[in-house]
Amino acid sequence: MENDAIINIRADIPLLEEVIYLDAASTTPTPKPVVEAMCDYFYNYNSNTGRGAYRMAVKSTKEFEHARYRISKFINCRSSEVIFTKNTTEAINLVANGLDFKKGDSIILSNIEHHSNFIPWLNLKKKQGIKLKIIKADKYGVVDPTDIESAVDSNTKLITTTHVSNAIGSVQPVNEIGKIADENNVLYMVDAAQSAGHMKVDVKETKADFITFPGHKGLLGPIGTGFLYCGEQSVEKLEPMNLGGGTVLDVTETEFSFEDVPARFEGGTQNIAGFIGLGVAVDYIDRIGLERIEKHSKKLTSKLFQEINDINNTIVYGSPENIYGIVAFNIDGVNAHDVAKILDELKNICVRSGHHCAIPAIRHIGAYELGGTVRASLHYYNTEEEIQIFGETLREISKFFGE
Ligand SMILES: Cc1ncc(COP(=O)(O)O)c(C=O)c1O
Repeated sequence: MENDAIINIRADIPLLEEVIYLDAASTTPTPKPVVEAMCDYFYNYNSNTGRGAYRMAVKSTKEFEHARYRISKFINCRSSEVIFTKNTTEAINLVANGLDFKKGDSIILSNIEHHSNFIPWLNLKKKQGIKLKIIKADKYGVVDPTDIESAVDSNTKLITTTHVSNAIGSVQPVNEIGKIADENNVLYMVDAAQSAGHMKVDVKETKADFITFPGHKGLLGPIGTGFLYCGEQSVEKLEPMNLGGGTVLDVTETEFSFEDVPARFEGGTQNIAGFIGLGVAVDYIDRIGLERIEKHSKKLTSKLFQEINDINNTIVYGSPENIYGIVAFNIDGVNAHDVAKILDELKNICVRSGHHCAIPAIRHIGAYELGGTVRASLHYYNTEEEIQIFGETLREISKFFGE
């Protein structure tokens, strides 16, 4: 991205003046227009949605629903196919618990999933006797669609994979997997936690029935926002999990009937300010342009990989041709948390260290005994200069430990 554009963009995120923020995979800093939209709600029309007839309540309903509309345009679906949740984890749990799985049904997933796309399925195995077929990724953290195809049988009810691995940064062939699911009449769910806002996620292209999104990562929305895309072809298979106010059309002392979608899935008062902010965040990303973001992030990812790989005693995971936005590594023999702490103390560099809530993936790449990995993850606001400083600092640390 051109330097002028980055300078303007960075001015919207004051904390970038203080630190080199390389932890986008955890959450991203919130730009000013998003914060301002939330402040506007709190200062000027703080009221509940869907209930009040007074003007302020009508405005908050209108803005809240407008955010859903903006999001639906961004991922190419209808507004009614966007169900608000508090994060990706809640969206995944809604699918895992809202579908009617029976003993003996099988679910296909990979061994590089985030715990949020692993534990809900393990739990179903424990409680309901469903079978899990766990497909091993290759040494670069990529799942081979033909392995998935071979695992499908007449008991298979759902396939789920991450889009970009949060542990390795490897990009999964979700469109090919979606095609396999479609041809076999099996449901497909994509965990887009690390791709949304970083690259194009078009729900039609993936042929997925469900896609789970965080609002607070690549999409630049506030903490406490996420959503589930649930295609209209699959919505009747999904039971709401959070029943109560806002989810029903009519109630007697013995019966109730559900509201239309998506309201039936959104029980209780929502994070109204958060979703209004998320709508503005999606517009903000749109204004920068996903193609520009993708080009910029690809360039920085390669540079980041190269900087780390050039240092003798580092181990870098994943293949440079097929990672995006995330580079995981270790300095040989040095605990990952120590490296992260030193990066922070020396140059205010924020990276994540540990197992990244993906212990099976960390075992798969052989980093479990090292206390996990150090993970640097970026977004459109990072600069080549920052990556340069990161590389130089890492080299210093590595020398100290005996490169
Ligand atoms: C791939 C992946 N899936 C799911 C999650 C859980 O996301 P959330 O914190 O929004 O629930 C994360 C979080 O980092 C992730 O990286």
